[in-house]
Amino acid sequence: MKAITLRQHGGPEVLHLEDLPDPTPGPGEVRVRVKACALNRLDLWVRGGLPHLRHHYPFILGADIAGTVDGIGGGVRGAKDGDEVVLNPGISCGHCRECLSGRDNLCRDYGILGEHRDGGYAQYVVVPSQNLLPAPKTLPPEEQAAFPLTFLTAWQMLVRKAAIQPGETVLIHAVGSGVGVAALQIARLFGAEVIATASSDAKLARARALGAHHTLRAGEDLVDQVKKITHKRGVDVVVEHTGATTWPQSILACARGGRIVTCGASSGFDAHTDLRHVFFRQLTILGSTMGPKGDLFTILDHVAAGRLRPILDRTYPLEAAAEAHRHLEDRSQFGKIVLLLS
Ligand SMILES: NC(=O)c1ccc[n+]([C@@H]2O[C@H](COP(=O)([O-])OP(=O)(O)OC[C@H]3O[C@@H](n4cnc5c(N)ncnc54)[C@H](OP(=O)(O)O)[C@@H]3O)[C@@H](O)[C@H]2O)c1
Ligand SMILES: [Zn+2]
Repeated sequence: MKAITLRQHGGPEVLHLEDLPDPTPGPGEVRVRVKACALNRLDLWVRGGLPHLRHHYPFILGADIAGTVDGIGGGVRGAKDGDEVVLNPGISCGHCRECLSGRDNLCRDYGILGEHRDGGYAQYVVVPSQNLLPAPKTLPPEEQAAFPLTFLTAWQMLVRKAAIQPGETVLIHAVGSGVGVAALQIARLFGAEVIATASSDAKLARARALGAHHTLRAGEDLVDQVKKITHKRGVDVVVEHTGATTWPQSILACARGGRIVTCGASSGFDAHTDLRHVFFRQLTILGSTMGPKGDLFTILDHVAAGRLRPILDRTYPLEAAAEAHRHLEDRSQFGKIVLLLS
């Protein structure tokens, strides 16, 4: 099969097109012929190298995959060749206390396609059969691939962790990110009022068209602007994934009793926390990573019904993966960048 591989870590130039043997599904696994694979910032982290990860090489990136079942391993039930599927990007042991309690993203063996095992920058990927979900047929493959990881993440952040309520105000940083466009739509679905930020007016216009009530350029006067919009009160919930540069603002933008839910640190993880504001304002800080597998079925229902929409920035052919990475790195995208396989 054709695959974009990593044999070393570094810039986009370490991504190479190679011919590899087609993978064979083992017991409990299926092989999926990949039609589309969306990029995530995670791909950039893995490509650059993460200290806690040891890979086999060649390694294949790509967590968000749409395709067709094309090979069934032993003992698999409920899947057959030709099924159109999207893949849950989370992998877990399936038999520990957390997995059996519907909290598989707390499993000690939790991993992600394209981070802990080969992902979808290839013509074929092999995954456990429990990672299959029916593809939403109303959408083209590039949109089918553009929602699982980020909508699962944003759903856990807002619905499970922050327990968002109708009428609450939510500040969403970098709304044009994959997590941001998902959070904006989920916040709207739950009846919240959204204040969204981005680094360009073009992204803010896209956010308003998607339903953001207020939009603000990211920058130094963010807290003042949020206070103006909320009549000095501050917001109930902050969706944090930008990290060090925005973290002090996220704390100051909160109303008393506000919740900050964080899943990432694109600008750096060594953020400054002034504890006085945390205890005087009685803030809650919630960490969040991915979400339980089952939640993706709920999200899929909303996507199929058109209540949540994958937002596509642009597509590239698989062969242009390095160019797609450069585009994600330059921060000009709004929504998802997707590799298409012919
Ligand atoms: N823990 C989890 O389960 C989980 C899941 C998904 C994502 N994440 C994390 O959440 C973050 C967002 O992921 P994503 O895939 O949605 O990101 P993305 O689509 O690549 O978007 C990231 C956006 O963040 C903004 N940004 C602000 N400061 C930045 C900086 N110093 N460097 C780069 N971007 C910066 C940029 O928008 P502007 O130019 O408009 O500011 C950029 O476009 C990442 O840190 C990712 O690792 C975590
Ligand atoms: Zn487990």
